[in-house]
Amino acid sequence: MPLIQDPEQRRALAERIRYCHEMGIYDFYRREPLSPEGAMSIAVDEATLSESQKLREEMAAKKSAVAANVTSENTLQVLTNHPEQAATDAVTALNLIREDLGDCTRCKLHKQGRKQIVFGVGNPRADLMFVGEGPGADEDTQGEPFVGRAGQLLNNMIKAMGIHREDVYIANVVKCRPPGNRTPERDECETCSPFLMRQIAVVKPKVVVALGAVSAKNLLAINAPMSELRGRFYDFVPAGARSSDPSWQGTKLAVTYHPAFLLRDPRQKGEAWKDLQMVMKYLGLKAPKSAT
Ligand code: URA
Repeated sequence: MPLIQDPEQRRALAERIRYCHEMGIYDFYRREPLSPEGAMSIAVDEATLSESQKLREEMAAKKSAVAANVTSENTLQVLTNHPEQAATDAVTALNLIREDLGDCTRCKLHKQGRKQIVFGVGNPRADLMFVGEGPGADEDTQGEPFVGRAGQLLNNMIKAMGIHREDVYIANVVKCRPPGNRTPERDECETCSPFLMRQIAVVKPKVVVALGAVSAKNLLAINAPMSELRGRFYDFVPAGARSSDPSWQGTKLAVTYHPAFLLRDPRQKGEAWKDLQMVMKYLGLKAPKSAT
């Protein structure tokens, strides 16, 4: 039986916990049984709670336009920075993230010649997600990640795994083309990667494959050479993003070479294939005969 039986109190507590999560607070400690002073602090807490509740409800009324495809019991979550958490399906959720991104001017890449934002493509419920660095010229023109030469190689890698491009979800750390295909800078990655984290939390893949060091370092927030990053799975929870599915505890992440690097140094394809085989084994995928 739940410790707090009053449904209103339970709802307020759940709301408070959700609010703390928004603030990045995940650890909670149980208080000792109440002294009279403690009772007073609870009373203060409840006053604070109902005040914040009132504010959220006022904002909810203002934001009712976002209500399409959004469950009513989750309307309060629409007020947060992550409206997709209230969506009832992954397509809507991804659309809400895309809407939130808007015609993004959050970092300097927006004024450095990008033609369009390259959000992501593929199966919104994919078991496997690939994350690259940032769009190149072809991607910038077509609005889709990995459609140039590196994309052709990625398609072949996916085929060799016995699946199709449409089966996976593909995105980048930054969604605007860095000028001259330079490496995205730290502030650009930091500004943009929260959107990627939210995409991952919506798609909930079983495995994320980071393509290249920039992707791996940004996702894992560690600075190590590729030789150390590859060859193992990491337990990965997208930072700062929550899935609307409370049972989702994160995913596995593997690192392999970026296809553009493999185009420059095809001798490393065998190593990349080892990485993909590790992923295939985990996902129970079998390579088609032609790939072995
Ligand atoms: N390289 C990337 O990292 N991403 C793309 O979308 C294309 C090339």
